[in-house]
Amino acid sequence: MNNLVDKINKLKKEKNAIIMSHYYQTSDIQDIADYVGDSLALAQMAAKTNADIIVLCGVHFMGETAKILCPDKKVLIPDMNAGCSLADSCPADEFGKFVELHPDYTVISYVNTSAAVKAYTDVVVTSTNARQIVESFPADEKIIFGPDHNLGNYINSITGRNMLLWDGACHVHSKFSVVKILELKKIYPQAKILAHPECKGDVLKLADFVGSTAAILKYAINNEEKEFIVATESGILHKMQLACPQKVFIPAPPDDSTCACNECNYMRMNTMEKMYNCLLNESPEIIVDSSIAEKAIKPIQRMLDISAKLGL
Ligand code: 13P
Ligand code: SF4
Repeated sequence: MNNLVDKINKLKKEKNAIIMSHYYQTSDIQDIADYVGDSLALAQMAAKTNADIIVLCGVHFMGETAKILCPDKKVLIPDMNAGCSLADSCPADEFGKFVELHPDYTVISYVNTSAAVKAYTDVVVTSTNARQIVESFPADEKIIFGPDHNLGNYINSITGRNMLLWDGACHVHSKFSVVKILELKKIYPQAKILAHPECKGDVLKLADFVGSTAAILKYAINNEEKEFIVATESGILHKMQLACPQKVFIPAPPDDSTCACNECNYMRMNTMEKMYNCLLNESPEIIVDSSIAEKAIKPIQRMLDISAKLGL
């Protein structure tokens, strides 16, 4: 049995493991995964799986979230260096000081944060539920929102809130450019522009639809238009194309010609070979300090509870 797919599937069965993949993984990883989802769905799936081992094909904070929700399970990640520039833009010690300076503020953190940042947080959000969770607080609630400045600005603009924003960003999403998208729009005048809320405000203003990876996928499936310009990590195009083979999906290019593409180099560190090895060796394993996990579980669970109540 030489085929890597067969070998992974055999090991998965023997070890009662589940493979979960984010939409930004390469298509071979998405295709072998038991479950493909956005960051909210991956957390929801981790919370309810009966598997003994979770292989989280995504980035480190996603593995940490799964481990915090399932402390008794082994959570593996194919490459321990698969980090996140957005999570890195919010060091826990600096965020902790910022929170301390604003004792009367509720702290809402995007899931793209370290467990240590979540430990300073009242409620976690993802791009799927950020608007609804912010709106679940009274209109005059004082809120700190971190770390994504673009997402925070967007939520402020659609809710009329005035949340205090941390100045973090994702190096992939903040590179999409209005100029390049407008050039594409000249070639595909009928195309709908779909954008992830981590993109800059001027890109979001151009968009026909703004949403999480799962929401963008759903929009493309349900919308009658045939062409879409997609301003998020290009891994999402795999599921879009599978779901709608007759439609055309055009990845929005980044503004920077020195930057190779609109792929997240952290997400793309994971490969089939690394996934096989991590399942075989049960390493690298995500470990979260128990005192941090004890604090971080509360805002994560609160997010899951609110999302369940809202049917998200
Ligand atoms: P989603 O919540 O849409 O899965 O996004 C996660 C992410 O890392 C976006 O860059
Ligand atoms: Fe982080 Fe951006 Fe990569 Fe998402 S695309 S994992 S926010 S670096």
